[in-house]
Amino acid sequence: LNYNVNKERRYILQVLFNGLRRLEYRGYDSAGVSIDSSSSDNSSSSSSQNYIFSPPPLVFRREGNIESLVKSVYQEVSETDLNLEESFSIHAGIAHTRWATHGEPAPRNSHPQSSGDGNEFLVVHNGVITNYEVLKETLVRHGFTFESETDTEVIPKLAKFVFDKANEEDDQTVTFSQVVLEVMRHLEGAYALIFKSRHYPNELIACKRGSPLLLGVKELMEGGSNGSAFHDEKFLSKNDFPKELFLSSDANALVEHTKKVLVIEDGEVVHLKDGGVSILKFDNDKGKHGRSLSRPASVQRALSVLEMEVEQINKGNYEHYMQKEIHEQPESLKTTMRGRLIRGGSCKAKTVLLGGLKDHLKTIRRSRRIVFIGCGTSYNAALAARPILEELSGVPVTMEIASDLLDRQGPIYREDTAVFVSQSGETADTLLALEYALENGALCVGITNTVGSAIARHTHCGIHINAGCEIGVASTKAYTSQIVVMAMLALAIGGDTISNQARREAVIDGLFDLPNNVREVLKLDQEMKDLAKLLVAEQSLLVFGRGYNYATALEGALKVKEVALMHSEGILAGEMKHGPLALVDENLPIVVIATRDACFSKQQSVIQQLHARKGRLIVMCSKGDANAVCLGGSCRIIEVPQVEDCLQPVVNIIPLQLLAYHLTVLRGFNVDQPRNLAKSVTTQ
Ligand code: G6P
Repeated sequence: LNYNVNKERRYILQVLFNGLRRLEYRGYDSAGVSIDSSSSDNSSSSSSQNYIFSPPPLVFRREGNIESLVKSVYQEVSETDLNLEESFSIHAGIAHTRWATHGEPAPRNSHPQSSGDGNEFLVVHNGVITNYEVLKETLVRHGFTFESETDTEVIPKLAKFVFDKANEEDDQTVTFSQVVLEVMRHLEGAYALIFKSRHYPNELIACKRGSPLLLGVKELMEGGSNGSAFHDEKFLSKNDFPKELFLSSDANALVEHTKKVLVIEDGEVVHLKDGGVSILKFDNDKGKHGRSLSRPASVQRALSVLEMEVEQINKGNYEHYMQKEIHEQPESLKTTMRGRLIRGGSCKAKTVLLGGLKDHLKTIRRSRRIVFIGCGTSYNAALAARPILEELSGVPVTMEIASDLLDRQGPIYREDTAVFVSQSGETADTLLALEYALENGALCVGITNTVGSAIARHTHCGIHINAGCEIGVASTKAYTSQIVVMAMLALAIGGDTISNQARREAVIDGLFDLPNNVREVLKLDQEMKDLAKLLVAEQSLLVFGRGYNYATALEGALKVKEVALMHSEGILAGEMKHGPLALVDENLPIVVIATRDACFSKQQSVIQQLHARKGRLIVMCSKGDANAVCLGGSCRIIEVPQVEDCLQPVVNIIPLQLLAYHLTVLRGFNVDQPRNLAKSVTTQ
C-alpha cells in the first residue's frame, strides 16, 4: 500500500488484514505483516538517503489463521500508535498469508522474512526459490545467520549483502530497484516478491518470475492518470494526485479497492516510491554479462480493468463458499455458455461460437493428436469430456497429468494441439508443462477461469471458463463449467462434419437445458445431508463409475477425500474384478454410478456382482430407474435427471459435491480451507 493522504495506522492495518482475508483461501497456516513505525514517514526520501537510518519497520508474524494475527497485532500495537495523531502522509506496508513449502508453520517461518536485526530488508514471497541452499551457504560464509527453514530467507539477506557491498564500494546512490535487480540476478525458481526496507522508507519494490502479481491503482481524487501508462524515470509524483497503490498475487484482494490493474509480467520490477510508480524490465542475460547494479530498460504499461464484482467474492447468505459455489451452478453454467451457443435464427442452425479459437480451429482439426493437460479437478474435467471430444473431433485425444508429463518428459510434437485446463491458470505444474509444450512447438490452447492468468497469457489461444470467481479450495462450479467448455470445444472442432450433425444438435439442445437440470438435481440437498449423516463415521467410501462417468467417480471421491478428510477412491468399474472386489463386504459403503448411457447394462451387472458379495450399495441412477438398478438387492438410491449422455457427468457430480460438503460440516472440518491444501498450487 502506498498512501498519499493522511491515514492512521489502524486504517493501514485494516486494509492489509482485509487483503489477507481475501487471500486466505490460497494459504492459511501462518501469516505476517509489516508496517512503518512512528515517524519513519517524516524522513525525507531521496535517492541519496541510504544513510538516513529510519526507525525499523514493525514486523508481526503468527502461526495459524489470519484472525490470530489480527488479534495479536491489535494487542501489541497500543491505542496511541493506532490513532490519528500518528497519521502517515505516505505509508508502505506489506502482508502475507502462507501455505508451508519449506519449514513447518511457525512464526519464524512466516513472512515477511527479514535480513536480520533491524529489519533492514523485508520480503514477502509467493513461490519457491530452487537454488536457496547454494545462496544460503554463500551468505553463511559471509557471516549471515539464518533463523528460519524457509527458502525465502535468503532473499532479504541477499538484499542486505548487495546493499552493504554497494555502500562499501562507496556507491551511496544505489537505489532500491538496483538492489532488487541484483538480487533477482541470483534467484532461480518461481517467485512473486515484495520488498520493504528501512533504508528506503515510503518505497516498495515488487517483482516476479513465474508466480502471479498485480498492481492496483485507486485514485482518491479526480484528475488522475486514468488508464495511463507507467514508465521509468518519470515517477508519478505524490503531488500529482492522491492515490492508493496495491500489490497482490490475486485480484480478489484488489477488487474492493479498485478495478484498475496492471498485470505484472515476468522480469518486471515495479517500484513504488513516494506514492508514484515506475516499471523496469529485468534482463537476465544483460545482468550476467553487464556491470553489476546496471540500469535496466524501462517499460511502458497501460492499466486494464478487472471484470469482477465484490459480491462475487462474498458468501452472501451461505455458510461456506463451497456451499455457495455448488448452488451457483445453474447460473455459472449459463454464464459459461452465454453468447457461445446459437440455436434458431434465420438459418435455424444450431452451432457453437468460440471467439478465442476462431483463427485456430483448422489447425486443431488437422492436429495429429489433442493432448489435455491439467492437475486435480481440472484433469478430471478433461477426462469427463474426453469421450465426446473423441467422438466429435475425429482426432485422437490423450490425457496427461501435468506433473507426470514433466516427470516422463513425455512426447509432445509440433503436430499436436496441447490443451491446458486450469481453474486458476497459475498452477505451477500445468504452467511448466505449458512451457514444455511451447518449446516442443505444439499449438497451445488454454482453458482457464482467470482472465489475465499466466496460462491465459502464454497459450496461443483459448477459452475462458467464465464460471465466476471460485474461492472454496475444493473446486465445484469450475469443474462443471470446464466440462461444458470442453463439450463446446468438441462441438466446435467437429463443426464441419455432416455425419455427426444430429448428434451435435442433440448436445447443443442438452447444453441449453443443462442449467434447469442442474437446478433440479440441487433439490437433492436434504437427501444428501441425510446420506451424510449415515456415512459420517465411516473410514472409507468407494465410488464406481465407467465411460462418461469414470471421471465422476474420480472427482466425487476427490471431493470427499479433500474436504471431508475421509478416505475415498474413484474406481473404474471395468477394473472391479482386477482388485477392488477384494475390498467389498457388508460394511464398506460403495457408490455406484449407473445412469442411462451405453454402459448401463454393464453397470447393472457390476451391481449384481456387488450384491452377490453383500456390498453396501448407494446407486445413482436416472429418474425412474430405481427398480432397474436395485435388482432385488437392498440399496439406497440417488435419482438424478437424465440428460444427453456426454453431459450427464455435469449433473451426476452435484449430489457427490453435496455429499462431500455435508460430510465435512458434520465431521466438523473446515469446508473452505481443508487441511494442508491450497486453492492454487503455485509451487512444484
Ligand atoms: C489444487 C486445488 C484443486 C485444483 C488443482 C488444480 O490442488 O486444491 O482444487 O483442482 O489445484 O488447480 P487449477 O487451478 O490448475 O485448476
